[in-house]
Amino acid sequence: MTYSIPKDFLWGGAVAAHQLEGAWQADGKGPSIADVMTAGANGIPRQITDGVKADKFYPNHEAIDFYHHYKDDIKLFSEMGFKSFRTSIAWTRIFPQGDEEQPNEAGLRFYDELFAECHKYGIEPIITLAHFEIPYHLVKKYGGWRDRRVIDFFIRFATTVFKRYKNQVKYWMTFNEINNQTNYKEQFLMATDSGLVLEPDDPESEALMYQAAHYELVASALAVKIGHEINPEFKIGCMLNVSPLYPATCKPADAFQALKAMQRRYWFGDVHALGRYPRHMEAFFKANGLRPDITAEDRVVLKEGIVDYIGFSYYNSSTVAAQENNPEFHFVGSEAAQENPYLTTSDWGWPIDPLGLRYSLNWLADHYHKPLMIVENGLGAKDEVTAEGKIHDDYRISYLKAHIQAMKDAIEKDGVSVIGYTPWGCIDLVSAGTGQMSKRYGFIYVDRDDKGNGSDKRLKKDSFYWYQKVIKTNGSDLG
Ligand code: BG6
Repeated sequence: MTYSIPKDFLWGGAVAAHQLEGAWQADGKGPSIADVMTAGANGIPRQITDGVKADKFYPNHEAIDFYHHYKDDIKLFSEMGFKSFRTSIAWTRIFPQGDEEQPNEAGLRFYDELFAECHKYGIEPIITLAHFEIPYHLVKKYGGWRDRRVIDFFIRFATTVFKRYKNQVKYWMTFNEINNQTNYKEQFLMATDSGLVLEPDDPESEALMYQAAHYELVASALAVKIGHEINPEFKIGCMLNVSPLYPATCKPADAFQALKAMQRRYWFGDVHALGRYPRHMEAFFKANGLRPDITAEDRVVLKEGIVDYIGFSYYNSSTVAAQENNPEFHFVGSEAAQENPYLTTSDWGWPIDPLGLRYSLNWLADHYHKPLMIVENGLGAKDEVTAEGKIHDDYRISYLKAHIQAMKDAIEKDGVSVIGYTPWGCIDLVSAGTGQMSKRYGFIYVDRDDKGNGSDKRLKKDSFYWYQKVIKTNGSDLG
């Protein structure tokens, strides 16, 4: 047993198809929910339009045109020394509507070529099956994941890509940040996680969320089982957004609120990793008249489809205080949220808390006893390009440095098993939350602005060279 970063550690970077590929109609691709999302801004939510409207701007349609730049971009990743590259397969390239019988060969070919390009440089692809991009047709015709039939469509998609990339992809994840929808009052999160397009304050939103989430969890478990039958070497994980909830004070009611909020947000991990609903959720359903359609067969499927590892994103921690008007501890996200006076925030108001990453790693290790992979982490910030074409992003370096140090502490001092670290948006891309380009995470700058103007030229930031050194020294030189 060694308590250090393993030699085969999966250093790399992460992206998602809809946020960088562009080419939204190329080679037979159909529209996804991401293709009907307009651009928002800091504090201005993105709108979900009823179909694509000629007078609206949809930043994901072109994104950074990775579809036509991927060879050069992967070359840049290899220059940084990437051992892995996390991306997603756009479901709508493979099944443009989502409910067809036969896949789209041109879409499959794109990923053949993309994965071959990764392997050319010894880069291991890590693939998310559903990253906020359910086919729009499934949203319109079936109402998204509220309909059990969507499980079959997803399984057809998963089986197709598992078979096709059986020898090219070993690491998979099922649903990106599946637990975001816990915050069921946020229309955007319901739409991206589950394709549930709802009116604000829809009284059914909580019940629909539990139903949709259950069908996704069944689909995930079935995919794990089928994937292992197709290739027993596959490592198939889940993907949670982890933002640990701290109590605002040591008042017992605040501490208990934080505990209940953790239960409400992270029970998805229990289903994925332990194969069952935790008792606190079953009790909550009963006490609150929530009756999701969970069959005895579903419960067997959940047991048979336990994930191999826990993939998770970590950006920040959250803080909550007791809510007298919420005695049953429904998860109400931002309504219970408090500012944490001990933390600074990013330009977009996200708290910066490296110790929260060590906390999260410990919490996940204690609960699930599975290998962990940090598949997203990073700082969304504005970058300035100097007259010489340089980007001095020391703020990004200091954020990442502190978080990698926290990960090392968890590995070395707490004995947590971590198998990879893929910081988010390793190349600048369209923000999921705001649709902006100016909220940049990358080591590689892309010349494109919030309105879609720019040359798409790629430039190496200072963090590019810094991360290259981190990988080269296997994390021992954080400079
Ligand atoms: C995660 C998502 O929520 O955070 C990504 O998996 C997203 O898709 C990332 O881009 C950062 O969020 P944002 O809103 O800054 O893009």
